[in-house]
Amino acid sequence: MISNNDKIAISDITENKLIEVINYTKTRNVKIDLIGGWTDDTTDSNILNEKYKLQIHKNSIEFFSNYETQNNPITIIFISHIEKCETAIKEIITYENIQIKSFIIATLPTTVYKTALIKSISQKINAEAHFISIAKGVGVAKGGLYALLKSDEIIWTYKDLDIDVKNELIERNINSGIFLDVGAGQCTQSYNLAKMGFKVIATDISKDAIESAQSSIKDVEIEFLVDDILDTKINEEVDYIIDRGCFHCIEVTDRKKYVKSINKILKHNGILFLKAFDKSCPLHHGPTLTGKIDIIDLFSEGFKIEKIKNSFITDGTGHNNNAVFAIIRCIK
Ligand SMILES: C[S@@+](CC[C@H](N)C(=O)[O-])C[C@H]1O[C@@H](n2cnc3c(N)ncnc32)[C@H](O)[C@@H]1O
Repeated sequence: MISNNDKIAISDITENKLIEVINYTKTRNVKIDLIGGWTDDTTDSNILNEKYKLQIHKNSIEFFSNYETQNNPITIIFISHIEKCETAIKEIITYENIQIKSFIIATLPTTVYKTALIKSISQKINAEAHFISIAKGVGVAKGGLYALLKSDEIIWTYKDLDIDVKNELIERNINSGIFLDVGAGQCTQSYNLAKMGFKVIATDISKDAIESAQSSIKDVEIEFLVDDILDTKINEEVDYIIDRGCFHCIEVTDRKKYVKSINKILKHNGILFLKAFDKSCPLHHGPTLTGKIDIIDLFSEGFKIEKIKNSFITDGTGHNNNAVFAIIRCIK
């Protein structure tokens, strides 16, 4: 995808994104020729100009009008919201004097439904379009998506309580107790549950996610904790666990460890509300997709599956991604 001496430009560049790209190319053992990029953020561009001696401009138009066209075609790396990539690519393909080798889109897996569209736009100028995921499991945390993107660019965040969880709580008349939100991300699920009167513990492997939620949520009490569910520090038992999108970040080989942790943390008769991308989801990379059968198999001992059905994970743009929703009771 990237070869030696490729000329690389980075869209929506920040220092973090630049470091991410440098690390990415290092792990692939290629020496790239970084020609600069563009960003809306003026503070970043000053730092980058001075510290890294890069040509950073306010937008692609300014960047390309200052760029001396050479024979070597350019590869453009995007680390940003997919809608933004799409708009920028449409703009870039209109610059007839610029030769583009490829577009590399490093973005969130839930946005892959745009793949075909972006590929067809690139084909118009004979450029390749590649998609790489930087949002898988620990990669989310260590790759720092929460640090890379602004909070409204984290596409999986949904501001309301998941509709299936909400309906189950109403139907079962559940309105008090301790809820653990595992892989809580920006903690919107925790927030809604705390508002409903639950005592909530919000955990995530990503320190950035927890710190940012902790500093922005002020009007309800939530216990925030940086914690890896595969090696959890949680010692107290809870009544309920909500998992919206964490399980599908867990590698298939680690799923048994996940189940063991859930069994340890839930009280006898406690309930796990689990929602994960379904196998029918048109995602080519990123999450480890789940089928009902996997869940039935994994939770066959120490649990009773009370409900399992096809559903959706609605992302922050309102797009519905096919998902499995399960209500799993812990039997100790
Ligand atoms: C798709 S996001 C969902 C976030 C949140 N539940 C929501 O609904 O917005 C998955 C989250 O799981 C977290 N995660 C991934 N692996 C984890 C692990 N081993 N332990 C705890 N959290 C993890 C990620 O950092 C990320 O915040």
